[in-house]
Amino acid sequence: MTSSDVNPLWGGRFAAGPSEIMARINASITFDKRLHAEDIRASKAHCAMLVAQGIITHEDGAAILNGLDQIAQEITEGRFVFKAALEDIHMNVEARLAERIGPAAGRLHTARSRNDQVATDFRLWVRGAIDALMEAQSRLQGTLLDQAERHAATVMPGFTHLQAAQPVTFGHHLLAYVEMIGRDRGRFTDARRRLNECPLGAAALAGTSFPIDRHRTAAELGFDRPCANSLDAVSDRDFALEFLSAAALCAVHLSRLAEELVLWTSSPFRFVSLSDAFTTGSSIMPQKRNPDAAELIRAKAGRVIGALNALLVVMKGVPLAYAKDMQDDKEPVFETADTLNLCLAAMTGMIADLTVHAEAMGAACAVGHITATDLADWLVRVLGMLPPCRSPTCKRLSPT
Ligand code: ARG
Repeated sequence: MTSSDVNPLWGGRFAAGPSEIMARINASITFDKRLHAEDIRASKAHCAMLVAQGIITHEDGAAILNGLDQIAQEITEGRFVFKAALEDIHMNVEARLAERIGPAAGRLHTARSRNDQVATDFRLWVRGAIDALMEAQSRLQGTLLDQAERHAATVMPGFTHLQAAQPVTFGHHLLAYVEMIGRDRGRFTDARRRLNECPLGAAALAGTSFPIDRHRTAAELGFDRPCANSLDAVSDRDFALEFLSAAALCAVHLSRLAEELVLWTSSPFRFVSLSDAFTTGSSIMPQKRNPDAAELIRAKAGRVIGALNALLVVMKGVPLAYAKDMQDDKEPVFETADTLNLCLAAMTGMIADLTVHAEAMGAACAVGHITATDLADWLVRVLGMLPPCRSPTCKRLSPT
């Protein structure tokens, strides 16, 4: 590596650039470019605050805001060239700003560090992901409710130990999932409320001596308030972990419904059929219709649980405040948001298109004495018979 590879933003004291391997392990741009909209939004809020506080001039502020808007446009139009040598999204945007507007670009980083910047960007991103996932969850709930209503009187066996236990209705069964997804939404709501504090102003870890207005940037970015403690603001990722754990629970719920769809569509059951749109055929067995989407939802819960575990282990034992370990927080979160979104959409599609075979469900109720419990209850309730006594010495209603 030569001096021409020295990082333009922090390399002032460095004679040579990083080794190729160092550059590869250090760069996060391949994945954190997904934070571009949040990064620019937070930079604009920071810039407006710096101007309002008289920390930078109106002219510099206007040039920065205008430059950031143009960069946002370059990115959305696919014209922006992301450079691994510039490590991450923050330095890519800032370097481009310098190319566009010259030295005034450097003033944007007054009174902030990449540490409070990345924590802010990531909170904004996770907040947006929660909002999108909660909408997807609502759509699934609505679809389940529609089917439940349609099948409020469609009798099917309810199971315990996967043995036919007591008759229920298909509507009743589906409504169990409406409850689960409702609690999953509740967990996202809780996580969102706790994450909605703004790290900006914490700077590297200890705050800044510039007369910034943290309340202004927090409000501008839709946060409820600034974070109370600067070390905490830059170093905790519990908001990402709460997101992942709420997502993992939702993925587990989806995997159970997916497994039921696999069972219900199998030939011994034939309770429901999935549509062409959500099944695949077999290359050698023409009679087959495979519930691949359901199987994949069942499988993907593993990845989401894995992502939660991965970030828990990354964060374990990291001393305060920021450490580069935290750069590894993003991929599990991005992957989880994508995976859960896809699983919710696929489940919604499968449920919406479901054909229910009420006769097969009813016929399955005719075997295995599944009304035995109801009959026993009826004998006691209506005929006033006493329930069998469990005492070995009492003869009341015992079999012999
Ligand atoms: N790309 C970094 C991350 O995601 C940004 C923060 C870098 N901070 C630092 N002190 N090197 O964590």
